[in-house]
Formats: sequence, C-alpha cells, structure tokens
Amino acid sequence: MKKAVFVLLVGFGTVFFGFAFRNRGVSWMDQALWETKNPFRIVLCVTEDLRTSMAVNFELKEDVPGFVEYRLSGETLFSRSETREKTVRVGTTQVYFRECDLLDLLPGTIYEYRVGGGDQVSEIYRFKTMDPDPSAVSFLVLSDPQGSDRLDYETFANNVLRVINDSGKSPDLAIITGDVVNRDESRTQWNWFIQSLSVIALEIPIAISIGNHETGSFTDPQIRSIEFSGYFHFPLNGPVYQTFDTVEGDQRLFDFDLGKTFSFDAGPAHFVAIDSEFLNNPLDEDNFGIFSQWLETDLAPHSDDWVVAFLHRGPYSLHYDSQNVKDLVVPLLEKYGTDLVLSGHDHRYSRAVYFQDRMVDLSALGSGGLNDYSFGEGTTYLVGNSAGVKFYDHRDDNDTQVAFRYDEKNPVIPWVEITGSSIQVTSYMVDRSDWVTFYPDRVSVIDTFVIRP
Ligand SMILES: [Fe+2]
Repeated sequence: MKKAVFVLLVGFGTVFFGFAFRNRGVSWMDQALWETKNPFRIVLCVTEDLRTSMAVNFELKEDVPGFVEYRLSGETLFSRSETREKTVRVGTTQVYFRECDLLDLLPGTIYEYRVGGGDQVSEIYRFKTMDPDPSAVSFLVLSDPQGSDRLDYETFANNVLRVINDSGKSPDLAIITGDVVNRDESRTQWNWFIQSLSVIALEIPIAISIGNHETGSFTDPQIRSIEFSGYFHFPLNGPVYQTFDTVEGDQRLFDFDLGKTFSFDAGPAHFVAIDSEFLNNPLDEDNFGIFSQWLETDLAPHSDDWVVAFLHRGPYSLHYDSQNVKDLVVPLLEKYGTDLVLSGHDHRYSRAVYFQDRMVDLSALGSGGLNDYSFGEGTTYLVGNSAGVKFYDHRDDNDTQVAFRYDEKNPVIPWVEITGSSIQVTSYMVDRSDWVTFYPDRVSVIDTFVIRP
C-alpha cells in the first residue's frame, strides 16, 4: 500500500471508523454516520482531472456568498476560493447551493478543506488528489440507494461503511448508477441521501449517472433535474442540444444535460456518464444526433485505453433492458472498444459480455472462463443490485441471457480496480441476520472477475 494512501486511510478512519469501532455491536455504524451530520451537505465530485483539481458542492442556510478554504495537510493558513451560486427549489424550499472547483492542486497530495458563507463555517475535512502518473484507480459501484425513510438511508450508509471496513481498501472514488432518492421533490429524502453519502463523499469524490427517480416527464419542468444539479457538481463537458420539439410541450432546455452526461479520466481509465433518461422514449432524433456525435468525439481518443461507461438504464439485464440503449448506444460503445458498462435500475445483480447483440461464450475465451477472460471485442455489462434496501422479484417475461446472476435480496457492492493490465471486479454482498436488524452481520464475496486486454 502506498504511503499516501495509508495516510488517507488513517485520516478517513479517524473521522468515520473511530465512531464505527467504538460503537460496534450496539448501533455502530449509524452513530458514525449521523454524528457527522454534514449540515452543509458537502459532496466532493469528480473533475476532468483528479490529479490537480477537486469539485466541491454544498449548501448554505442563507443566501450569502459562499467559500471553500483549503490548505496542504499540516499547514496553518487556508487559501480561499469563491463559489458559484445556484439557488434551487427542492420541494417547497429554496436551497442556496454553492459549487466550486479547486484548481492547480498538487498531485498525490492530501488537502484539508472547509466550506462556509457569512458567519457559518464547516468542520475541516480532507481529500487526496490522485498521483501524478497514477498506475491504478479503484472505485466502489453503488446502485439504487433510494429509500423512503431514514432507516433505508442509514442501511445504505452502513452497507458502504461495512464493505470499506471489511475489505481493508480505500477507494479513489465512488460511482453511483442513479436512483439516489425515491421522490425527487422530497427535500427530506435528498437530505437523508446526502447524509448517508457523507460516509464517503466528504473525503472521496463521487460521480453519478442520473436515474429515473431524479427525473421528471418530458413535459414537466422537473425534466431539467434541477435538484440533481443543485446537490451535485459534475463536469460540464457534455452535449449541448438544440430546441427540443419532438414532444409537444417538451420542457428540456438546450443545456439541461450538462453535469448529467459527462466524462473524466482517472488513472489508466476513461469514464463516461450517460443520462439514460435522455434516451428514453420518445426520442428527439436531432438531439440524439448531437448526443451520438458527442459520445463518438469523447470516446475516439480513448480506443486504446480502458473505458468505463455508466448509466442508470442498461441494455442487458434481468429485469429492465432499455431498448434504446441497446439499439442506439451499444453500437457506439462497441465501436470504440468500451470495456465495462455499469448500470442500475434492475435491483438485481448480473453480468455478461455482449458483442453485436449476442452474448459471448466466456468459456471459449481462454482458461479463466467466466472469471478471467481476455478478448479483442465485446463489452462487459455489470448490473448492480441495490446497495441499499430495494430489491426486485424474479420476472419471467425477460429472456435476456446473462453469464452470472445473483438473485438473493441482499445488497451488493462491486469494487473495481483498474491497472494498465486489467480490470478486476470483486463484488461484496452485505448480509444481515434478519430484516428487523439493519446492521450488517457479515460481508462476503459473491462474484469476482478479471478482464484483460
Ligand atoms: Fe430506476
């Protein structure tokens, strides 16, 4: 383990695991979570270059200018960065969100930071920039943490903490494949989600592909997903559309997808987040042309790199295949050699390799078979089970083939590690003794596989 990573782990543990270990056996992880509170609802978000920058999103209680102060770990004086205002109505509440990009940071360096505005200032937290020439990147995949009450979100947070704790590893980032709340107009649910997300997002950047539960219908102004844009600040490098006119009364604006479809690099991999709600029927053909051109332009320079795409609705899954994703996006992903596609929406864990709409027989690809394979063509599709509490039953009318499936109603959290020579996925199942008890009893590996060039 690299020294700097170890230092981060120690710092991370001081904030979170200190509570965790102290309370183990009683209510050990919910204390860790809810005692942190995160009243500013700070979320660290990915940037286009995590070696030299970090995005910070938070909210203030009143409409005053915000700031982020940061310093090298161990130093005394802070530098201050001003923030951009974005006041958003969440339910019936005006929320004074602020966002900021910390730029020109030193690679491979631990920073301390705090946020504030007026006479308010947060506690001090810390993050680490990626190494100058990172040979690897590791991340958690969290699907569909949506819930309806506080215990649902506590459970989600407990699951994440328990997997981090038991695996003994520290992720560089976390990718969430959408549906983070059940009701996008519920300020309470958003707050619970951000509270639960605080177990990672105060110190590790996250990236989210927006889900249907954060999105309204095309004729609803909510389609612009203003709450999502309020709570998060992802790279604004996605497609910019023309007027939407296929659907009468379509409320989408030319820039509605900025921060929802985006890309970034981390370690030896290129990542692209896709707003799959944009692709849901009915499709605006002209704007799909803009999207596909954007995707091709984004992917083309990375055909020799590891490429990870993530979106809420996936093309090959046990419950909810998305035909538009399958017909319109998969050919583009295949054309540029996308290696791994992460999706949610299904609430059932599965994986398969597909090429030209046919499942690849992994047993024919070298001696490793299902769990260790190498090929020139084909894309691995990993569909997340919920990382929280919501699971679906079997459905018999979907005949999609998958190579591996996990049908139990237990949370699953895949851990992905990408180096120059492989993508390694280890999927952890979080088990509890019964459904009355929401504190996890144990963590075990239900699936592991390696993709090689
Ligand atoms: Fe969904």
